[in-house]
Amino acid sequence: MNAPHTHLPRHLLTLQDLERGTLDALLVRAQAFAEGHYDRRSLDGIAVCTLFFEPSTRTRMSFTLAAQRLGADVINFDASTSSTRKGETALDTLKNLEAMGVRGFVVRHHEDGAVAALAQHVEDGTVLVNAGDGRSAHPTQGLLDMLTLRQAKGADFSKLKVLMVGDVKHSRVARSDLQALRTLGTGDIRVCGPASLLPDDGTLQGCNVSHDLDAALEGVDAVMMLRLQRERMEEGLIASLDDYHRDFGLTSTRLKRAASDAAVMHPGPINRGVEITDEVADGPQSLILRQVSNGVAVRMAVLEALLRG
Ligand code: CP
Repeated sequence: MNAPHTHLPRHLLTLQDLERGTLDALLVRAQAFAEGHYDRRSLDGIAVCTLFFEPSTRTRMSFTLAAQRLGADVINFDASTSSTRKGETALDTLKNLEAMGVRGFVVRHHEDGAVAALAQHVEDGTVLVNAGDGRSAHPTQGLLDMLTLRQAKGADFSKLKVLMVGDVKHSRVARSDLQALRTLGTGDIRVCGPASLLPDDGTLQGCNVSHDLDAALEGVDAVMMLRLQRERMEEGLIASLDDYHRDFGLTSTRLKRAASDAAVMHPGPINRGVEITDEVADGPQSLILRQVSNGVAVRMAVLEALLRG
């Protein structure tokens, strides 16, 4: 099976400028991988490094599996046990790994724009994937969320009503999801959260914004819950976790306002009992673990497109 022509840029830093055809092609390719159609020698002889300066479970492990399934040599860089602790910069770290022959870097960093900045300094033939930078972008999470929606609701997003709930302000997942939902022509994009956690920087352009979760849930086909990004949050943005749960937590009673087959999604890690109850997170409408499975397939599609393109 040959990789589709996807017109991907050299590095995957954001979903902002990706054309509809490119997004669709990546999702179709990822679906094939999800169904087990892949060649274990696709990335034979290519070295890939997960270069994470922030913690991760899902993204890092799924990129590792994705690269291994395509036959790459995979190394994992852990900032907490590396020479970062002695003051080595991210760029020096990357250049040293590049000197060892690494061609693919999957990079997570706490600073907005850090991955794009690193991409300015790499050799021809080296590619970077943004695995999350600050609040800015998490493009492969956006793609895996779109694949999950596509599997559940079909490829025509124009009929879909999708609600995003919570801390959009600090969320790179939200930004990438909203970009992808717009590119795929989603009919009704709703966003709900406390005013203190909704950005006023243009991120919500074209969205129906509300602070009333019960009203926002009416008839939606999918609910995308967001994690409260407490590590990026200044004090006082929410009164308390209990208050947040009362006003913006997804409970099984609330979920009844959505379409009866509404999909429930969350990028993880979940703050159980805050954004979402156990009953909903583990319930029949939850696609949360499907999102995780799809992460491997999407990341295979991205690595293949960038490293074999
Ligand atoms: N969704 C997500 O990015 O999870 P991790 O932080 O565990 O990678």
